[in-house]
Amino acid sequence: MNTEKTILVTGGCGFIGSNFIAMVIEEQPGYKVINLDSLTYAGNLENLEDVMDESQYQFIRGDICDETLVSKILSENSVEGIINFAAESHVDRSITRPGIFVDTNIMGTLVLLQQAVANETKRFLQVSTDEVYGSLGAEGTFSENSPIKPNSPYSVSKASADFFVQAYQHTYGLETVITRCSNNYGRHQFPEKLIPLMFNNARTNKNLPVYGDGKNVRDWIHVHDHCRAIWFAYTMGEPGNVYNVGADCEKTNLDIINIILSYLSKPESLIEFVKDRSGHDRRYAIDSSKIRNTLGWKPTIDFDSGIVKTLSWYYNNKNWVDNITSGEYKNYYSEMYENR
Ligand code: NAD
Ligand code: DAU
Repeated sequence: MNTEKTILVTGGCGFIGSNFIAMVIEEQPGYKVINLDSLTYAGNLENLEDVMDESQYQFIRGDICDETLVSKILSENSVEGIINFAAESHVDRSITRPGIFVDTNIMGTLVLLQQAVANETKRFLQVSTDEVYGSLGAEGTFSENSPIKPNSPYSVSKASADFFVQAYQHTYGLETVITRCSNNYGRHQFPEKLIPLMFNNARTNKNLPVYGDGKNVRDWIHVHDHCRAIWFAYTMGEPGNVYNVGADCEKTNLDIINIILSYLSKPESLIEFVKDRSGHDRRYAIDSSKIRNTLGWKPTIDFDSGIVKTLSWYYNNKNWVDNITSGEYKNYYSEMYENR
C-alpha cells in the first residue's frame, strides 16, 4: 500500500465522520484512514459505501471505551493521530438518557487520550461543539475565550471531554487540538435532527413539531466546510489550541422550516408548535476569526446553494432515509413526539 501516514478516525459512520472520511480518501492519497465505530443507531455503513473498497480505508467495528481494542489498533498500525468524532450527539436524547453521554463522550474520550499517550500517538484532535459555551442573548458571538457554560447533559459531556483533552496536553504533553463548530447541515444527517426531520415529515405530509416559538437561532455551516476546518486544524493547528468553526449564517428554526416547505411546495399549515425542549438554548453564533486568520481556513459553500443541494440529496435518496427511519427510529419518534 502506497500510503505514508495512518489516522484513526472514530465515529466515522455517522453524519460528519462519514463526510470527513470521504473527503480524506478523495483528497489525501498519502493517508490511510482506520474508522473505529460501534455502529449505534446513528452509525450507518451505507454512508461509506463509496469508499469501503478503497485500499486507503479500513473499518473496525468497536467501542471507543474498549481500551484493549484501542490500544491494539494504535500499536499495530503506527497511528500518527486520532480524530475523535465518536459521540452521542443528540441533545433531546441526552435529556431523557444522560448516562450513555457520560460513557461515550467523557469516558470514551478519556480512553482514547490514555491510549494515545501509552502508544506515543503524535496528535489528537477532538471534534467539539459551540454548545459548550452555553446560550447567547440577542447580541454577541462565542470566541475561543468565552466562558464554558454548557446547559444540556450533551453539552456538559462535550465540555468535560474538552477539559480532559486540555489536561492531557498540559499534564502528559500529548499534542492536542480542539475544534468547536456550530450546527452542520448536509447529506447523511440522522433524521432526529432539525433539517432532515422536518424534511422527512413535510415530504410525507406529517406535522412539523416546532419547539417553543420557533425563534431559537442556530448558526449553520455546510458539513464539507466543517470537515475542511478539521483537516486544517489537524494538520496545521497549534498544539494546545482551540479553534471555533462557523460560517456566519444565523437562522431561526422557522426560517429553516420555511425554506424546506417552499422547496417541497408544502403548506405552512403543517407547522405545529409543541412543548419546548427543556433548557432549550436560545441562540448560538460563532466567531471563527481565529482559524481564518491563523490557519487560512474559510467556508466555501454559501447557505443558499448548500441548502438546496442538501435538500436535493435527501429528496433523491429516499431509500437512505427509509432504511434508517425504520426500526429504532420509529420507537424513538413516538416516545419523543407523542403527547408533546
Ligand atoms: P452522529 O450521531 O451522526 O454520529 C456519531 C457516530 O459515533 C456514529 O457513527 C456512532 O455509531 C458512533 N459512536 C457513538 N458511540 C460510539 C462509541 N462508544 N464508540 C464508537 N463509535 C461510537 O454525530 P455527528 O453529528 O456526526 O457528530 C460527530 C461529532 O461532531 C460529535 O462529536 C459531535 O459532538 C460533534 N459536532 C456535531 C455537530 C453537528 O451539527 N452535528 C456540530 C458540532 C460538533
Ligand atoms: O451547535 C452544534 C450542535 O448542533 C451539535 O453539537 C449537536 O450535536 C447537534 O445535534 C446540533 O444541536 P441542536 O440541538 O442545535 O440541533 P437539533 O437539530 O437537535 O435542533 C436544532 C434546533 O431545532 C433547536 O433549536 C431545537 C429545534 N428543534 C429540533 C427538533 C429535532 C425543533 O424545534 N423541533 C425538533 O423536532
